[in-house]
Amino acid sequence: MSSERKSEYNVNKLILNRTSPRAMNGETIENNDLFAILEAGRYAPSAYNYQPWKFLYAKRETKEWDLFFESLVDFNKSWVKNASVIILVIADKMFNDKEEIINIFDSGAAMQNMALQAKDLGLVGHAMSGFDYKKIRENLEIPENYHVLAMLAIGNKGKIEDLPVELQDKEIVSSRKELSEIVIEGKFK
Ligand SMILES: Cc1cc2nc3c(=O)[nH]c(=O)nc-3n(C[C@H](O)[C@H](O)[C@H](O)COP(=O)(O)O)c2cc1C
Repeated sequence: MSSERKSEYNVNKLILNRTSPRAMNGETIENNDLFAILEAGRYAPSAYNYQPWKFLYAKRETKEWDLFFESLVDFNKSWVKNASVIILVIADKMFNDKEEIINIFDSGAAMQNMALQAKDLGLVGHAMSGFDYKKIRENLEIPENYHVLAMLAIGNKGKIEDLPVELQDKEIVSSRKELSEIVIEGKFK
């Protein structure tokens, strides 16, 4: 995944060129890099600065890895096996004794901060919702008052040949809808 995106306007290159490759080489990432990524998540903004998120992680060489890995759908297992770390983002359901949808929104910002930090460090970050939500809740003993949201697989860049053959032609830079399709000035129409 090497070609760069082109923006119509002057978008920051880190944002523009963050992609979700699947090819990783199986090598371990440094703890300093892992914690820089987690700390980038920490600095996401949130309503009332409530910081509703928690980040649960496992490194491939530890016994916790299987608790995360076995919850993945087979498709994701086929490439995440070469990742170094999996981070799961969860969010408190409540704020001030009330269920708060904005906690989910804020936790998405935290995940994007982590993905951008991974990119800036020259690493691969790939978000995932393809896992068994019930199983991961059970495996990690996540209480019911937390939403299980999404995972981020992180690793060192690999070669296309590191991927199963059927995934190799999916390793392309994705496009986006036109700005005119998603932007509305004023009322919804
Ligand atoms: C919340 C979320 C869940 C995703 N789940 C998966 C997944 O389970 N497996 C996968 O291969 N990619 C997954 N993706 C990656 C998307 O397919 C990818 O972000 C999208 O195609 C845009 O490509 P880009 O990230 O390279 O810009 C997910 C992305 C997000 C944000």
